[in-house]
Amino acid sequence: MLCRRTLISLGILQFWSNWIAPALAQQTFFPSAVPLAVRTPTFSCWLDTRNGSNPMSTWPQFWNDQHVLGWAGYIKVDGMAYHWLGQPIPGNASTWLATTVTPTRTILTVQAGPMRLNVTFLSPIEPGDWARQSFPFSYVYLDGKATDGQSHSIQLYSDISGEWVTNDFGTGIQWSSSQTSNTVFHQVGSTTPTNAFKDMAEDAIAYHAISSVQPNLVSVVGTDQALRSQFTAAGEGFTLTADLAGNVGNVRGNDGKFPVLAHALNLGTTDTITTVAWAVGVVRDPILTFAGVPRRAYYWSQHGTVSDAIDAFMTDFPAARARAIALDQKILQDAAAVSPEYADLVSLATRQAMAGMEITLSTLPDGSFNMSDVKAFMKDVGNSQRVNPTEAIYAALPAFMYLDANITGALLEPLLEYQGSSSYSNSYAAPDLGTPFPSVPGNPGNNVMYGVENSGNMLILVLAHAQSSGDGSLIGKYYDLLKRWGDYLISNALIPGQQTPADARDTGLAQTHGNITNLALKGIIAIQAMAEISQVMGQTADEQKYETAAKSLMQSWINLTSVSGQLRWTYGASTFGLMYNLLADKLLKLNVVPASIYTTEASILSNNPPQQAFGIALSSDSNSNTRSDWTLFSAAAADNHTRDLLISGVHNHASSNLTGGAFPTLYNVQTGQGPGVGASPNGFASPAQGAMFSVFALNVANKTVVVPSPAGSAPPASSSGVPSAKSNAGAIAGGVVGGVAVLLLLGGVAIFLRRRRGQRDRNDGLEAPRPYQAPPNMVAVFGDSSLAPTSPSSNSNHVPPSRAPGAGLSFASPKAALMSGVPGSLGPESMSPPASSHQPSSSGVGSSVSRGTDELRSEMERLRYEVEQLRATQGVPQEAPPGYD
Ligand SMILES: *[C@@H]1O[C@H](CO)[C@@H](O)[C@H](O)[C@H]1NC(C)=O
Ligand SMILES: *[C@@H]1O[C@H](CO)[C@@H](O)[C@H](O)[C@H]1NC(C)=O
Ligand SMILES: *[C@@H]1O[C@H](CO)[C@@H](O)[C@H](O)[C@H]1NC(C)=O
Ligand SMILES: *[C@@H]1O[C@H](CO)[C@@H](O)[C@H](O)[C@H]1NC(C)=O
Ligand SMILES: *[C@@H]1O[C@H](CO)[C@@H](O)[C@H](O)[C@H]1NC(C)=O
Ligand SMILES: *[C@@H]1O[C@H](CO)[C@@H](O)[C@H](O)[C@H]1NC(C)=O
Ligand SMILES: *[C@@H]1O[C@H](CO)[C@@H](O)[C@H](O)[C@H]1NC(C)=O
Ligand SMILES: *[C@@H]1O[C@H](CO)[C@@H](O)[C@H](O)[C@H]1NC(C)=O
Ligand SMILES: *[C@@H]1O[C@H](CO)[C@@H](O)[C@H](O)[C@H]1NC(C)=O
Repeated sequence: MLCRRTLISLGILQFWSNWIAPALAQQTFFPSAVPLAVRTPTFSCWLDTRNGSNPMSTWPQFWNDQHVLGWAGYIKVDGMAYHWLGQPIPGNASTWLATTVTPTRTILTVQAGPMRLNVTFLSPIEPGDWARQSFPFSYVYLDGKATDGQSHSIQLYSDISGEWVTNDFGTGIQWSSSQTSNTVFHQVGSTTPTNAFKDMAEDAIAYHAISSVQPNLVSVVGTDQALRSQFTAAGEGFTLTADLAGNVGNVRGNDGKFPVLAHALNLGTTDTITTVAWAVGVVRDPILTFAGVPRRAYYWSQHGTVSDAIDAFMTDFPAARARAIALDQKILQDAAAVSPEYADLVSLATRQAMAGMEITLSTLPDGSFNMSDVKAFMKDVGNSQRVNPTEAIYAALPAFMYLDANITGALLEPLLEYQGSSSYSNSYAAPDLGTPFPSVPGNPGNNVMYGVENSGNMLILVLAHAQSSGDGSLIGKYYDLLKRWGDYLISNALIPGQQTPADARDTGLAQTHGNITNLALKGIIAIQAMAEISQVMGQTADEQKYETAAKSLMQSWINLTSVSGQLRWTYGASTFGLMYNLLADKLLKLNVVPASIYTTEASILSNNPPQQAFGIALSSDSNSNTRSDWTLFSAAAADNHTRDLLISGVHNHASSNLTGGAFPTLYNVQTGQGPGVGASPNGFASPAQGAMFSVFALNVANKTVVVPSPAGSAPPASSSGVPSAKSNAGAIAGGVVGGVAVLLLLGGVAIFLRRRRGQRDRNDGLEAPRPYQAPPNMVAVFGDSSLAPTSPSSNSNHVPPSRAPGAGLSFASPKAALMSGVPGSLGPESMSPPASSHQPSSSGVGSSVSRGTDELRSEMERLRYEVEQLRATQGVPQEAPPGYD
């Protein structure tokens, strides 16, 4: 904590670049894909780095490796163009020299003619700062130096295509450009947005932004063919001219051309490029509807408009980069105490673990946010469209414990709220909140097949969250529900029969025999966790009941499992496997499992099944398949020798660029092959890789759990352990974010609430939607393509329609794409203050609109939410307005 300020100082930056420099010279880590912009389940862009491919001539892909995300980057040096991203034509590829992966960054070091470039893709990880963590934007920035010591004429260019907002080339898109005080950005969205999608969002708006506080900047929307050939044309400098007549088209037009959103700049003659940054974002709003209430990403509580949020993101860049470097340094230093291989694994895992979810707030009827209703929703990325799958949260738990312990609580809250409601009546816990993301229908069905698995996951997660955050509110609120699961486990954990862990289905991990000992173990550990939960509540009788049961069941489990110096994988059979649930006993510091079991398991893993090229099979029942997350759980529960052996198997796979895929969890230990691209589930980009933090999580100290009293009387506090000075969670959240940031954040909330209150006063008595008056030159399109004005300049007066919400809890987007838009170029001459909104640019096409547009848009969206809210909370009939269905 003492060195918080110094961490962010230049001294450390200097230290860092010296420290990492040797790593570049000798790259030792070769993943088959590296994260470029990875922040949410629908904003997850990767670069394929398989052997034999040239990363400099490869289009970035969505995480599923089935969809190109058009994103091209060029540098022009003395009139010769080289691309540093994608496979754009024309131009030559830069020469790829090395790839460096840190927890927050991927750095491509490339040579473009006489210039050596570091192309850095930074996806921020913001522990303890949920406004920043939930903002779906990433930076890419360039630094460069001439290797011949000479100055050169330098121009830079970046564009993105409409492929960021749909899976289908034929989808209609519309785009526009805006300018804030510090930033110029383009946006593109579908003209027919829908929340019914599989992996690629079909209801998102993609943004491409750059700081406008730099000279010789040109921002323009045009076709890929026109803009890229204009930029790369021979000669120093460039001119870019929009060649699109309107602001609507298809992702790929009938002429085969893609509209692209470009920002380019001329640096003049220099031998050094000092950090030129762009940002890319993919915004879905709302994120989803839960229990009839639309939920928006957390950052909206800090920013009234998307322009405001983008502006803040761009202005924050130097500080964001310093925080990212400090966090990288902290993680890598901790990892260095384990091994360089471990450092590689956590580096590759961090962004995908944090990008598996959306952190959301519900909105109050006046459009303000209920700051005490934070809920996070994880998608089972890489495997299915399940929402908040308990086994994936369990797998990712170590990352949350280390990075930001409160996130576990935000993920558990909706699971507990749903299962504590009258909609759920099973005696065991549900596997998830239903499917498909982003709808959250709940999962009331018969899932007794996974009853021990899910009840065990929930109790372990609830206690882990309480211990690592000190927050006992979930325990206080849902104690009776937790007891129901504890009781279920007392009756069912020891003999799970044909029950299976969640990942046994459809994953090639065929677990054909019943009575899986590792599953029974999870249930028994969870009963002991329930005893601790009872202790936190001061319920001594309950505590004794669960403790007695756990101890006795443990004894029986040992009798059934530990036979002749072996630990069986299923009762009565001489099989073995990764007894990964042992980690829960260690993480929760329960000591319900005797030390001898750990020793036996470690000796089995280090001696018995030979370590294959890519590690140890999950079990002798699993067709030689394994999971990297459960392997790391096992590693962390073992002695250092066995730990390092298991880590090295997972590292061999993570660093093999022969098989492909975005850091997958599931593969064959002999071949390294997984089920493959497009085969589901394949574990690509799964947040379960948060399990790489397992070794770290063991060092996260217990906090004193405080259960807030419901009535506001003195809260019962359970002093369960001395908070250690080495608390990782505290050190990171405190050290990296810093007290100042927290103060700013609180100040921001206060200002925002004041503003909202003012608006509410002005809108006193707002009970029904106000007719919405579109300003001149603003195109309003509400998701139904038949409503889209044919002319971009036609004015529209619309009552904001609410599309009919689906039945039950299902998703109904009140957003739709509401995009204003005027195409055209935002070259230096046309980027004067945005006062005039309908001014022809030099190219004869309408020039861009203003900040005001976005505020109106945002205000309008707020109105729409209010209508939704009124409907949801006051039982207003949910039909769509006439003419909209
Ligand atoms: C693939 O990995 C090998 C080392 O195993 C490395 O030499 C090669 O450069 C890598 N290819 C790419 C594209 O990263
Ligand atoms: C990687 O690719 C290079 C060049 O194509 C080839 O020579 C080498 O054998 C490959 N490595 C492996 C492990 O396949
Ligand atoms: C690509 O490189 C070749 C060979 O150096 C050169 O002739 C050509 O002009 C380059 N293309 C562009 C677009 O710069
Ligand atoms: C976690 O949440 C608790 C209250 O729920 C709060 O007191 C604490 O400051 C939070 N910790 C961090 C690191 O944000
Ligand atoms: C690129 O990164 C390496 C390693 O951090 C550093 O040594 C080098 O100075 C950087 N180059 C530039 C131009 O910033
Ligand atoms: C095991 O490794 C940790 C670092 O992860 C180290 O602190 C500890 O001393 C090691 N234990 C033994 C017994 O060597
Ligand atoms: C599980 O074990 C119990 C007790 O040994 C046995 O009665 C039962 O048949 C077993 N079930 C399965 C599916 O193996
Ligand atoms: C476990 O086995 C021991 C020795 O065979 C026996 O004494 C004990 O009763 C058994 N305990 C349970 C709970 O089955
Ligand atoms: C951690 O907390 C649990 C209760 O939640 C307590 O039983 C245990 O003793 C504590 N462990 C340490 C090392 O403080």
